[in-house]
Amino acid sequence: RTEAAVTAIEAAATQDVLEALRVDALGKQGWVSQLMKTLGQMAPEERQDKAPQIQSARAAVSGAIEARKATLDAVELERKLATETLDLTLPAPATPKGSVHPVSQVMDELAEIFADLGFAVKTGPEIEDDWHNFTALNMPESHPARAMHDTFYFPDRGPEVGGKPTRMLLRTHTSPVQIRTMMSEGAPVRIIAPGRVYRSDSDATHTPMFHQVEGLVIDRGIHLGHLKWTLETFLKAFFEREDIVLRLRPSYFPFTEPSVEVDVGFELVDGKRVLGGSGDAPGHGWMELLGSGVVNRRVIEFAGLDPDEWQGFAFGVGVDRLAMLKYGMDDLRAFFDGDARWLRHYGFSP
Ligand code: PHE
Repeated sequence: RTEAAVTAIEAAATQDVLEALRVDALGKQGWVSQLMKTLGQMAPEERQDKAPQIQSARAAVSGAIEARKATLDAVELERKLATETLDLTLPAPATPKGSVHPVSQVMDELAEIFADLGFAVKTGPEIEDDWHNFTALNMPESHPARAMHDTFYFPDRGPEVGGKPTRMLLRTHTSPVQIRTMMSEGAPVRIIAPGRVYRSDSDATHTPMFHQVEGLVIDRGIHLGHLKWTLETFLKAFFEREDIVLRLRPSYFPFTEPSVEVDVGFELVDGKRVLGGSGDAPGHGWMELLGSGVVNRRVIEFAGLDPDEWQGFAFGVGVDRLAMLKYGMDDLRAFFDGDARWLRHYGFSP
């Protein structure tokens, strides 16, 4: 029986035939398996006599199956290699390409413009504590400006600062990076800090998450003139127009003194605002662009520096706002919908 089985196995023409032979011999009901079972019922002497025969029958059959399987596999592979060819010269199917989002693009451009002015890029955590987000920026616990920020708070407690516990929150502006940078690097400082900020606010012009770029310069003898020159230089480079005109209006931020709101002159062209020229000219207007000011001495003190030695200016500008102005986009919410058709419409996706 063993010999006949081995002969049949060696002659098996296909994997299917081979598999049928395997089941016939080694399957649960197969004859080899049945023989193996009989061993258990035999008397010890008989078993000693028969066992080697049965074992060697099993070894012969399974050895033959393995050898035949290897041969058939090799034949199958040869056949595939001969029949299936791959044309490497065929053009690949077109797949959609990604592109840099306008918000990222603007942040990259700002980093480049400010790099030319000697500014480094710094980042800070989006999950912040209220000491860095408010207290160190001269907004103590009871300060009304805290309420104006519509802050998202976490239930957890933050780390202790000066023996007092803090609360964790989603930072409402990039200004805490001012504090972190002064504390970790001392003075002088010349940085911008781009990033996400959060406020509980949502309509056509407000989203609960948006982007800001903070600017901070700390050095000896810094004054408002440095701020104005820096902003003018940056906005001319960013909007690629020499005729950008700024208007500085007195304002209030707890962390700057004096504080100035910066407006930029625009012209109405076909109902759209195009930046450039004085906002006072006929057919022109002023648009509020960013908040800034001379860093409050108390903030410099909070950050551990001597305000008699170090002065500075700071500004915070909405990145999404800048992108809308530069690319003529008018719906802020579309920035965060992730709709490729919208991006394509404004030339951001091929
Ligand atoms: N942090 C302010 C805001 O979010 C902007 C600002 C930054 C103002 C730096 C002055 C100086 O509104």
